[in-house]
Amino acid sequence: MPNGEGNGPFPALAGSKVANGLAEEHINVVLYGRNNTMPAWKGVITDAEIAAVITYERNSWSNKAGDVIQPAQVAAMSNQQ
Ligand code: HEM
Repeated sequence: MPNGEGNGPFPALAGSKVANGLAEEHINVVLYGRNNTMPAWKGVITDAEIAAVITYERNSWSNKAGDVIQPAQVAAMSNQQ
């Protein structure tokens, strides 16, 4: 939802452990998807777009991870698997 709350099967991103935890875990979920429900975004949007949306999620609503994700971090993980 626009305020970061979840809805039905879609988990809240506000207060989420992923969005407030290790950047690597967050990048992994967005790149490769999870549980056959969250879609994978690798190759669908650019590494820079993935970095930007993750940075937004980590620093919006109640989330205060305080980091800025770089496209190079996404690229490094994208080339691993
Ligand atoms: C670029 C767009 C998207 C981003 C950045 C994104 C990000 C995330 C993140 C960070 C999580 C983990 C939340 C947590 O567990 O705390 C998540 C989970 C999830 N997302 Fe997305 N999401 C996106 C688009 C979508 C779309 C389009 C769908 C469905 C059509 C979707 C469906 C889901 C579902 C169902 C989960 C829960 C997966 C599970 O069972 O663990 N997401 N998403």
